[in-house]
Amino acid sequence: MSVIAVYSMKGGVGKSCSAVNLAWNSAVGSSRRTLLWDLDPQGAASFILRGDQRERDRAHAMIAGTVKPAKLIKHSEIENLDLLAADVSLRGLDRLFFQISKKRHLGKLLKSMSQDYDRIILDCPPGLTETSEQILRNADIVIVPVIPSPLSERALTDVQTFLDSSGKKHAPLLPVYTMVDQRRSIHKQGLARRPKWPVIPMSSALEQMTKLRQPVGSFAPSSPAARAYARIWRGIEKRLANK
Ligand SMILES: Nc1ncnc2c1ncn2[C@@H]1O[C@H](COP(=O)(O)OP(=O)(O)OP(=O)(O)O)[C@@H](O)[C@H]1O
Ligand SMILES: [Mg+2]
Repeated sequence: MSVIAVYSMKGGVGKSCSAVNLAWNSAVGSSRRTLLWDLDPQGAASFILRGDQRERDRAHAMIAGTVKPAKLIKHSEIENLDLLAADVSLRGLDRLFFQISKKRHLGKLLKSMSQDYDRIILDCPPGLTETSEQILRNADIVIVPVIPSPLSERALTDVQTFLDSSGKKHAPLLPVYTMVDQRRSIHKQGLARRPKWPVIPMSSALEQMTKLRQPVGSFAPSSPAARAYARIWRGIEKRLANK
């Protein structure tokens, strides 16, 4: 089982959108038994996959250990793709991780699910918090969506420096440019600076996801955005195979 986190210190950069589409590619494109675990109290990924929780306090209780993951995990409408949905109780997650104060707590929870899944995709809340630290230390790969601008790239460097400075092990951070509009000079300059970073274009199909509540591969499989996510997923699989 491998854990792929979709993380950024910055908000609104395309994390949830990327988490849902990468999970779809894992489940449908690679036929992997896949779990999308939504760790953000905003619950955007849960909303898109139609998995809103009825009881609003269980996501936190599961991490605290009083509810079993199996009680919360639901099949999505997509074959091979299960969902561990978020709810507002996750707003207290930093405090919980701080109180538990065990850096392996999330790792242990993930391990307890490793029999049932080949790939677990984590949709992370923004920020550089106790929760993010747990995620960054326990994932195998961290996908970092970056909107092309010097400020966004700086946020990525800050996270990298923070992780390196602690001297502890962490997953490789793999940046991906998102919401790219090649007509904008600042985006063109970003792509020229980092020609090897994968690119997700600005896409009306991706905007439609929150209305249709489906991954882009389900309703617009040949759109440039769906193809871009498929390429990125193949790159992730290749990297995991070489680990
Ligand atoms: N490449 C794209 N092109 C167009 N719209 C996009 C693209 N990626 C994401 N969006 C839209 O931008 C908005 C923000 O995306 P998303 O929710 O994935 O960001 P986020 O990083 O998860 O935000 P938050 O930090 O609030 O969790 C959403 O409305 C989403 O549909
Ligand atoms: Mg999000």
